Amino acid sequence: MEEKVKEIIQYYHGDKSYLVPILQDVQKEFNYLPKDALCAVSTQLSVPISRVYEVVTFYKAFSLKPKGRYQLSLCLGTACHVRGAELIAGNITSLLGIKEGETTSDLEFSFETVGCLGACALGPIIVADGEYHGQVTIAKTNAILKNLGKKVATDEEA
Ligand code: FES
Repeated sequence: MEEKVKEIIQYYHGDKSYLVPILQDVQKEFNYLPKDALCAVSTQLSVPISRVYEVVTFYKAFSLKPKGRYQLSLCLGTACHVRGAELIAGNITSLLGIKEGETTSDLEFSFETVGCLGACALGPIIVADGEYHGQVTIAKTNAILKNLGKKVATDEEA
């Protein structure tokens, strides 16, 4: 882990003014910010660990908890909510066996709900692995998860 952090820091020529992009790259590498990686950033950049944590906790995009390989974000804004987004959320949590905001134990999937994504006419909307899907139904959600490698029993197979 220290070696990987070193590579990232070298890419930025060890310049501590690049602390945020360095942390973004570290997160990209590990899918979250492990404690050891943060300590390595602090030591190698000579930035106090308190400053590193200050930055990490300030930006919502940083995560101190392990995230899944695939991120699922379901909109629960008003328009999506009235079109049944809660049912989709229930389906996802039951298929993955996790609650909203959690990651599966095999670190494959993370699931979160978000506010309006600005495409209300297409609701309910889910962003799966960076890709937007509109007018999602339970069947569509099953297909999305299946495409991402989750074993999902569909009606035809049941
Ligand atoms: S409420 Fe879901 S995209 Fe606007």
